[in-house]
Amino acid sequence: MTSSPQIHVPVMAEEAISLLQIRPDGVYVDATAGAGGHSERIAGLLAGGRLIALDRDPGAVALSRQRLSGFPWVKVIKANYSELQAVLAGLDITSVDGVLLDAGVSSMQIDMAERGFSLQSDGPLDMRMDTTEERDAAAWLARSDCGEIERVLREYGDVGPAGRIARVIAARCKANQMRRTSDLAAAVREALDFLASDPDEIRTVFQAVRIAVNEELKHLELGLRQAAWSLAAGGRLVAISFHSGEDRVVKRVFQELTRPATLLYPDGRVREKTLPAFRSVTAKPLTPAPGEMRDNPRSKSAKMRAIERAV
Ligand SMILES: C[S@@+](CC[C@H](N)C(=O)[O-])C[C@H]1O[C@@H](n2cnc3c(N)ncnc32)[C@H](O)[C@@H]1O
Repeated sequence: MTSSPQIHVPVMAEEAISLLQIRPDGVYVDATAGAGGHSERIAGLLAGGRLIALDRDPGAVALSRQRLSGFPWVKVIKANYSELQAVLAGLDITSVDGVLLDAGVSSMQIDMAERGFSLQSDGPLDMRMDTTEERDAAAWLARSDCGEIERVLREYGDVGPAGRIARVIAARCKANQMRRTSDLAAAVREALDFLASDPDEIRTVFQAVRIAVNEELKHLELGLRQAAWSLAAGGRLVAISFHSGEDRVVKRVFQELTRPATLLYPDGRVREKTLPAFRSVTAKPLTPAPGEMRDNPRSKSAKMRAIERAV
């Protein structure tokens, strides 16, 4: 039986639109179309402009195409945002006026048990965002040794007892008992069986495995750099992150891009300091207003940062 997903509510939509400073005749990219919520708002502000919307999930692409079918100036493409420059080159677009990147998973992906992201409903241990890729979470766990699983739990989920949980997961994989999301949750419970209630580590272990299966942080870093260098002067890149691993990547890449470069002579003396090609627009990350957090609890952990191309 397939479960029916809740439609994804776009997070910090007003703030994103305001930071993008949409020009009606501009060219914009929504790097993460999802259910098309942000795209719909951007598309509604265009007159003579264009919007290119990407998603790596074929289901999200189908949904956004349907939702945005009334806007002929919108093109929805199945692509990874880490290939943004190739996508734009294929459309003969040399630069864009703004990019929005709303990282992570959508409500639809989480709510559909058969996608394998849900903590609440049992499903196959899948977790692929791009369902055309071969390796799902069960295959990733089966091919990873205990040390690799421990590293991923620690780095991508900030899981404290990562070694303990990784040992149980690896043992269950060996015994061919790691096929369903309920198997992964059971492994965490077994590793932390001294706890009276369900451990919060179930959530962080699912997050870590999902990030590893989809190589999310690698793509995020590439996607941010490609988006930034695709901007025309004055164009803005707005990024929304949902957990500390994503925010660390956004913060680091934005800091690098907005820092002046120092050119050195071979002997180490400073030859020249060049002005940075980007400037920071948000001194501190923006977070959702209390009303949005109340109405859409999934927005609670969101952080929004933006940079602008200076030259
Ligand atoms: C938080 S949702 C975006 C929701 C969207 N802004 C809306 O208003 O409905 C994130 C989306 O990004 C997609 N995604 C995640 N990583 C991606 C990547 N590397 N390339 C392209 N899409 C990606 C996911 O498949 C998911 O649909």
